[in-house]
Amino acid sequence: PRRVRVHHLAEAKRNGAKITMLTAYDAMTARVFDAAGIDMLLVGDSIGDNMHGHENTIPVTVDDMLPAVRAVSRAVRRSFVVADLPFGSYEGSAPQAHATAVRMMKEGGAHAVKIEGGRRVAAQVELLTSSGIPVVGHLGFTPQSEFMLGGKRIQGRGDGADALKEDALALQEAGAVAVVLEMVPAPVAAAVTEILAIPTIGIGAGPDCDGQVLVWLDMAGMGDWSPRFAKRFAELGRALQDAAAEYAEEVRSGTFPAPEHSYAE
Ligand code: KIV
Ligand code: NA
Repeated sequence: PRRVRVHHLAEAKRNGAKITMLTAYDAMTARVFDAAGIDMLLVGDSIGDNMHGHENTIPVTVDDMLPAVRAVSRAVRRSFVVADLPFGSYEGSAPQAHATAVRMMKEGGAHAVKIEGGRRVAAQVELLTSSGIPVVGHLGFTPQSEFMLGGKRIQGRGDGADALKEDALALQEAGAVAVVLEMVPAPVAAAVTEILAIPTIGIGAGPDCDGQVLVWLDMAGMGDWSPRFAKRFAELGRALQDAAAEYAEEVRSGTFPAPEHSYAE
């Protein structure tokens, strides 16, 4: 299959073909989602809360991210791999962002990076872009700013809508190839999508974005709980727990292993 590249994202927007994105944190799931035809795989800093047992994304480091980025990049044949730059690894300056992004590309094999924020990271987006590193923006609810935003709250309501538009335009102007919109009222996300030439990828941002992204554990029903904006397309957590319990039961009862699982002398 032909690799998804930046020009395919622009093309999808022009043709009105929806862009599909999921998170992936390892080679196993990356292989599955690549085979399923998911266009973009995000090695999200959501690895912190979803895979590493943290409460949020704040503690995630570049060293936490790199092995995951490497694993996902190695596994894909078609999907476009985006690596999140974690909290504290890019906000300070454009050169700081550049140093981190270079590691994600060089050591991780990422095809692009994602950073949170709008006008405040325009200089970062500009330097990365001019260095040959595609950048995906992230606006609306930005988890790395959770403590500044006063919690996991919907963004872009009221006056926030104009600020969101300004931020989105600033990212586009700086060279971003796409923008994630997280927890934004559907009509506001639609308006941002309308004014941008680059694609928007929504999560809790309604149906009118150019694409959609979900944390794969939410999408597949791995945990007990998923946010309202995530649809559970499977109950994988339940299925996995049932499989493990059945395995334990058969080991205890002596049903497993059966002769067909055993080697003769
Ligand atoms: O880290 C992540 O999973 C993300 C998506 C929710 C967009 O940034
Ligand atoms: Na993220």
